[in-house]
Amino acid sequence: MSEELKRVWVAGPLIIGAGPSGLAAAVCLQQKGVPSLVIEREKCIASLWKLRTYDRLTLHLPKQFCELPYMEFPQEFPTYPTKKQFSSYLEEYENHFSIRPMFEEEVRLAEYDSTIGFWLVRTNKSEFVCRWLIVATGENSEPVTPEIAQISNFQGRVLHTSMYKAGSDFEGEKVLVVGNGNSGMEISLDLCNNGAQASVSVRDTVHILPREMLGLSTFGLSIRLLRWLPLPLVDRFLLLCSWLIFGDTRQLGFKRPKIGPFEMKNTAGKTPVLDVGTLAKIRSGHIKVVPGLKRFTNKGAEFVDGRVEEFDSIILATGYRSNVPSWLKEEELFSQKDGYPIKPFPNSWKGNNGLYSVGFTKRGLLGASLDSRKVAEDIAQQWNVDTKHLDSAC
Ligand SMILES: Cc1cc2nc3c(=O)[nH]c(=O)nc-3n(C[C@H](O)[C@H](O)[C@H](O)COP(=O)(O)OP(=O)(O)OC[C@H]3O[C@@H](n4cnc5c(N)ncnc54)[C@H](O)[C@@H]3O)c2cc1C
Ligand SMILES: *[C@@H]1O[C@H](CO)[C@@H](O)[C@H](O)[C@H]1NC(C)=O
Repeated sequence: MSEELKRVWVAGPLIIGAGPSGLAAAVCLQQKGVPSLVIEREKCIASLWKLRTYDRLTLHLPKQFCELPYMEFPQEFPTYPTKKQFSSYLEEYENHFSIRPMFEEEVRLAEYDSTIGFWLVRTNKSEFVCRWLIVATGENSEPVTPEIAQISNFQGRVLHTSMYKAGSDFEGEKVLVVGNGNSGMEISLDLCNNGAQASVSVRDTVHILPREMLGLSTFGLSIRLLRWLPLPLVDRFLLLCSWLIFGDTRQLGFKRPKIGPFEMKNTAGKTPVLDVGTLAKIRSGHIKVVPGLKRFTNKGAEFVDGRVEEFDSIILATGYRSNVPSWLKEEELFSQKDGYPIKPFPNSWKGNNGLYSVGFTKRGLLGASLDSRKVAEDIAQQWNVDTKHLDSAC
């Protein structure tokens, strides 16, 4: 308990997290002449991409929607860069702008001290004191594992998608994938392509859209259409195209929500699944769709319809959550309940007393870029006022 923490005074803002959001924030600040310090719990930048994603992952959205501020992707990158390419771009980004994060600093507590007007940020090694605090720990900082009864009963292998690397690790096995978001659907395909028998457990309604339609990326096409047409019309158009390409997804075991894909994204923050070939394998019977889980048995699972099946391994594609409530003592910017900003996009980036968020818009890398520009602009104004005072005082 008497452990001495190293105390660090930070001249400019302190940025927590060295993922794409934290790096983008540091670069945008630097471009405005504001120095900052990035701290990160892992030994490397972009830990989500480097340590917790599967081998076959590529960006889900075309590259033009995933670039960070002030640096383009190399010309030779394909439309959907691989995770290796994206990670190397981030390293290049870090080096080019000489961002030097402090690694292995895991934030345990951050609190504003109103008597001195500074934030105190405690990690497992140090205590940082700063006037501006930028939260960039991400929407995916902790894996969510569902509370399914008797999970400890199951004697086979159970792992979260963050630990899944490749289908070849499961060759010849019967594997249950729990969850039908983008990761669950893609991992089912990866398993199937590598000689495993995959079943995907579907509990919720979901919008599945082709990744491309009319020769364009579905995402890019939608963004263009939204400039001209109201959102409900774009939604109808997307659903019509999906129907023409896939037929009725209900027949494959996927009920659609009552509201359209973009409305769903805007109101509930739920991303549609962009199909990369899984539906075709379901149609051909190579991947099975099974209902939601009721409980685990020692050799497999029982589903809500009472059916019992045996599996060798279970993969939990049950998503991630924000860890902000576990360390940030503050109640105005971030909700203590889910760790997301309380105010919706585009007003989610700024709180009180110099607190900011980058990368919590449910809009991926594009959202992170928008946030980091706004945050840098805002802090630079205050910074310039401060430094002018200093100049005239000297
Ligand atoms: C499988 C997958 C595919 C995706 N594909 C795309 C895509 O194609 N396009 C797109 O736009 N978005 C995509 N996303 C969304 C994704 O959230 C972003 O790509 C991006 O990684 C978010 O960046 P971030 O910096 O906000 O969060 P992260 O990349 O998660 O980085 C946050 C960093 O903060 C660190 N950290 C967390 N807590 C602490 C703490 N307490 N103390 C210190 N450090 C801490 C973490 O270690 C991590 O390095 C994808 C996400 C996943 C999971
Ligand atoms: C602090 O936490 C990080 C991340 O969990 C860990 O790698 C590091 O070894 C820890 N350092 C100390 C001094 O406890």
